[in-house]
Amino acid sequence: MTIRPSERELPVDRASEPRVLRPRRAAPADAVRPTRAEVNLAALRHNLRVVRRHADGSKVWTVLKADGYGHGAPAVARTLERAGADGFCVALLEEAVELREAGIVAPILVMGGYYGGAYAEVVARGVTPVVYDGSHLEGFARLVRSGEVPGPIDVHLKIDTGMARLGVPVADVETFAALLAEHPEVRVRGLMTHLASADALSAEATHEQMLRFDDATARLARRGVRPEIRHAANSAALLRGEAKLDVARPGVALFGISPRPVAASTSAVLTPPPSVPFTGELEQVMRVRSEVVDLRTVAEGATIGYGGLWRAARPSRIATIPMGYADGLSRQLTNVGHVLVRGKRARIVGAVSMDMSMIDVTDLPGVELRDEVVVLGDQDGPLGRDFIGADEVATAAGTIPWEVLTSISRRVPRFYREP
Ligand SMILES: Cc1ncc(COP(=O)(O)O)c(C=O)c1O
Repeated sequence: MTIRPSERELPVDRASEPRVLRPRRAAPADAVRPTRAEVNLAALRHNLRVVRRHADGSKVWTVLKADGYGHGAPAVARTLERAGADGFCVALLEEAVELREAGIVAPILVMGGYYGGAYAEVVARGVTPVVYDGSHLEGFARLVRSGEVPGPIDVHLKIDTGMARLGVPVADVETFAALLAEHPEVRVRGLMTHLASADALSAEATHEQMLRFDDATARLARRGVRPEIRHAANSAALLRGEAKLDVARPGVALFGISPRPVAASTSAVLTPPPSVPFTGELEQVMRVRSEVVDLRTVAEGATIGYGGLWRAARPSRIATIPMGYADGLSRQLTNVGHVLVRGKRARIVGAVSMDMSMIDVTDLPGVELRDEVVVLGDQDGPLGRDFIGADEVATAAGTIPWEVLTSISRRVPRFYREP
């Protein structure tokens, strides 16, 4: 919460400001490979409606960081904006710039707070910065003082109520209020905090954080800092009716994931007890599919893939798919993950490699080259109908659905479709 002397002394110099760069993702038009992610925009709109109903009158600023949780932020934002989302939240200035360049006009909140000195870019793009450090105040105030932009500049202030990640600690709000008084060029329009355990079995930790947030709000008010809007709820809080304020910031729910309670010590996903509302109303937006590009029969005792991590206990029919860990199919799925072929489950056998994986289709009659293989989502085929959720993949890979979705890498082109 200190002002770095270097920031205070620097003159405003647009030419020396960092450039905002954006990585490019494989485009459908360039796609030769059969591995692709299909993004169902109707499911996205459906999930927005579900989220809105739970928000019960609060505004919904959907969180689209990390390329819209891997779904492609520009297309997702355009769809949600047209469907009535009130605003968007991202982690990085780079992500906000990408949305503005995609034509998004709704409010965009940059939550990360690391602007790399590009304060003028924040203002020029008309996005709302989150601040929690004196250097932020100084960076924005200098622009106004230099006459480069009219003031005051509206910001949201982040309070740390228990996440211990970013934000002004509750104990320091008076000191920060004093700093704000020295920077009238900056106006706090919003106050936010982030919940650490909204998906825990008990809401106790969330209630404690909200009490601290209320305390910080009251203490700021006593020093003349009275933001018009406050927000805290992520998907888990929103779906359980917790932390209801002026705005909610759901992310993963928009993509069809209802955060399940996790055990605090192990992060193992628990079956929610009846006391914990769990919504099955959401629809998974992403479907990831590939194709069989090689088929072979191996003898009993043959090993498959790097390190020979799987050995055939019987003569086996093995199919290869062109999707590996560099595409976002976790190596943790080696010998434990499943995919769908002809509407039925097949196990991933042998080590998932960088570009390819092998699956055991011995028990699936009729598998042929070019058959569709579904890694995430549903499949209706001649042998049946099944669904693989991001939740299921996360459990098999020892991670969380957020990581499964955001890991689908940029060399997997996204195809947008209505139902
Ligand atoms: C500050 C902040 N708010 C809201 C969210 C949205 O969380 P979720 O995807 O669980 O809804 C995130 C995501 O991690 C976040 O970092």
